Amino acid sequence: MNNITDFYQELLAQTKALISDESDIIANMANVSAILFEHLEKVNWVGFYRVINEELVLGPFQGKVACIRIPLAIGVCGTSAATGTVQRIADVHQFDGHIACDASSNAEIVLPIKVDGKVIAVLDIDSTAFNRFDESDELGLLAIVHVLEQHLAK
Ligand code: SME
Repeated sequence: MNNITDFYQELLAQTKALISDESDIIANMANVSAILFEHLEKVNWVGFYRVINEELVLGPFQGKVACIRIPLAIGVCGTSAATGTVQRIADVHQFDGHIACDASSNAEIVLPIKVDGKVIAVLDIDSTAFNRFDESDELGLLAIVHVLEQHLAK
């Protein structure tokens, strides 16, 4: 992972250390959301939604209370889960079907978490700053998600 910034290299190393000895998915998601929320600047929500019975269900998170269930293919999270792609949105108000859990959120990045090629969850991060997430955030967060995926696949 030489293509990620020093900031994300450090965060990646911390994430690996944090989850390496624990197999429980909820515990690991809880700590990963906490470490990201603590270290990422200008973010107001970090958390996971898990795919359960063809819908997204709120998982461990940091931030204000959020929507509990999201249908697949609806909103930024549902789109990421249904397509298996990263959704990096500079202005959520321009995203058709965006679900506003917190009216102060203006930008969002959602990364699918896959095990055996199947999306089992998404990592969702919100910001009040428009255009908060750039390509270096996407690459860094993808590296962190890959660590989680590899750990889950064990
Ligand atoms: N904005 C998301 C919903 C989840 S909250 O941001 C925590 C969406 O459109 O899927």
